Amino acid sequence: TRGQQGGPEDGASGAARRTTKVSVVGAGSVGATLAYAALMRGAARTVALYDINATKVEAEVLDIGHGIQFMPMAEIIGSDDVAVCADSDVVVVTAGAKQHAGQSRLDLAEATVGLVKTIMPKLVEVAPNAVYLMVTNPVDVVTYAALKISGLPSGQVFGSGTVLDSSRLRYLLARHTGVAVQNIHAYIAGEHGDTEIPLWSSATIGSVPLTEWRGMTGPDGTVVGRLTEADRERIAHEVVTSAYKIIEGKGATNYAVGLAGSRIIEAVLGDEGRVLPVSSFLDGYLGIDDVCLSVPSIVGREGVRHRLEIRMSVEELTGLRRSADALRGVARSLGL
Ligand code: LAC
Repeated sequence: TRGQQGGPEDGASGAARRTTKVSVVGAGSVGATLAYAALMRGAARTVALYDINATKVEAEVLDIGHGIQFMPMAEIIGSDDVAVCADSDVVVVTAGAKQHAGQSRLDLAEATVGLVKTIMPKLVEVAPNAVYLMVTNPVDVVTYAALKISGLPSGQVFGSGTVLDSSRLRYLLARHTGVAVQNIHAYIAGEHGDTEIPLWSSATIGSVPLTEWRGMTGPDGTVVGRLTEADRERIAHEVVTSAYKIIEGKGATNYAVGLAGSRIIEAVLGDEGRVLPVSSFLDGYLGIDDVCLSVPSIVGREGVRHRLEIRMSVEELTGLRRSADALRGVARSLGL
């Protein structure tokens, strides 16, 4: 299905990058929302939606395409034939088992890795030079499987990891402190899941180390926005339990993960060299080997260019290693 092709008659800013193509595998709520977010942000010139459910993919392409007039110049296409992903610059994999209320992301591992084993060879055949962004959960195990199955260089296959979790952390810190989210630099590292860890010791608010943040003095002389140890623990817990709460309430998460996915795509297509906590293959990273998990990394045209060796506290490094052990254990249990 070829959707609409056109441009903003209403003068929307931003022109999609010429001739760039992003393919989104899976037209479920995450895939469709990610495609929409990428188009709204002018991330790519062509967005292709691929799903084995022809009816669903056609409906999503039409529904998004009918709004193309209000987006930066771009087009959306879709099909139940993997050929629609041909020659993509970025392929985003969102297809997979749905996380139900009470299920952990790792509970989805066996079903999802089976799907990756089926789909990756078909995608690499039509788009061998694409950067592969895995979003499907459990994203760290899925990324590891996709990398092994594809045989592509490690930087070319990576996962959305804790980009979303770090965005949640920054959102909560901004609300608590009253400082703009853009001026809060804090990362969640490790598994995109229950064993993830906040890197408090390297976080900053403006250029103030977060651990030295004393709040702001209001007009009446009272101090607002202080961050106590208890506040940090509450916020970290709220981050790690966010998805469960949202899934309980609306059945799935889609908006923030769609936006996070588009942000990563933009860093690739714009060759930005952007620091993002994406999930990639670690070998010799602070003593961590043979696992995919998230650490702040430089993302550009080729995918993951470099992993930053952040100075961590003993507690943080211990937590990261514990996360790595949990993920490696699941991968081994699936014969990866
Ligand atoms: C979440 C899903 C994408 O954290 O794992 O919302």
